[in-house]
Amino acid sequence: MKKYNIGVIPGDGTGPEVVAESIKVLKAAGKKFGFETDLEYFDFDGTRYLKTGVVLEDSDIDKVRTKEAVLLGAIGHPDVKPGILEKGILLKLRFSLDQYINLRPVKLYEGVETPLKDKGPNEIDFVVIRENTEGLYTGAGGFLKKGTLDEVAIQESINTRKGVERCLRFAFDYTRKRNKKKKLTLCGKTNVLTYAFDLWERTFYEVAKEYPDIQTDYAHVDATCMWMVKNPEFFDVIVTDNMFGDIITDLGAVIQGGMGIAAGGNINPNGVSMYEPIGGSAPKYTGRNIINPLAAIAAGQMMLEQLGEEKAGAAIENAIMKAVRENIKSMSAGKMGYSTTEVGDLIVSYL
Ligand code: IPM
Ligand code: MN
Repeated sequence: MKKYNIGVIPGDGTGPEVVAESIKVLKAAGKKFGFETDLEYFDFDGTRYLKTGVVLEDSDIDKVRTKEAVLLGAIGHPDVKPGILEKGILLKLRFSLDQYINLRPVKLYEGVETPLKDKGPNEIDFVVIRENTEGLYTGAGGFLKKGTLDEVAIQESINTRKGVERCLRFAFDYTRKRNKKKKLTLCGKTNVLTYAFDLWERTFYEVAKEYPDIQTDYAHVDATCMWMVKNPEFFDVIVTDNMFGDIITDLGAVIQGGMGIAAGGNINPNGVSMYEPIGGSAPKYTGRNIINPLAAIAAGQMMLEQLGEEKAGAAIENAIMKAVRENIKSMSAGKMGYSTTEVGDLIVSYL
């Protein structure tokens, strides 16, 4: 029987609770579709940091490198200053493993409430491909005369031809494979960020020549936000840089029903990829068995699809769709009509 070597980083807050449900579903899918999962758990999180002072070591990353995929819960601890764990664990993993794509589907399922008036599952179904290793996220820049009245703070956006091109190629390939509207929108800011997005735009139209079957489209990031609310049906696949991708995918998560259901993948097509619910560690819901695990379950689904278990992935998605159509009242913690563990059981029963 096929056996997958999977790393699991439950993380902080509600991370462990939602990951447990995702694993429950993975195990059930394995039984049904004939594969096993060999899980290794890693304690890369705020609790370990507070106990040992260790954020993430090279040897930790080497352990993750031996895995076929990784499932992550959430990083972020209320007792740790913001930035330490996010940069030191999450971003360090993304960068070290060269997970240069952050793939975030925005799909509204029937039965899930969207804040958008008069929009439903037919209108809200697109994918954001966010560059995941460059842009404003590299940490390039610094302070000059910090703490004085002459202080200067510089945060630089790094965009390499190689980094931009591989992201765009992934996006074109993905749009072709997705085979829906076959339209790829570059989201940028060519009217102001005339260096970074000049490179993006030139590369976009150059690569596009190799994809005559894909319709190209461009929107500034501010207009993209407007269209996502006003006419989300306009989009099929959106490709953008790291910072804009971060921002527009929170907007995307909200129009698909919220953090309870939004999942994403940090993908290195030639290496180790890591799947996660988009939401954070939600300290106020921790340990109460009320957080929505569907996003983590959907992250597990994306992971299985990458591993080649497409049937299992589709079955999990169908189970999620049935559960949100027929059972789960709200995507919000405490309002689902089910506990966290009951949602996991429900998905397993539908599998
Ligand atoms: C995300 C998160 C992270 C990001 C944070 C926690 C560093 O917001 O995955 O979108 O900005 O990428
Ligand atoms: Mn974000």
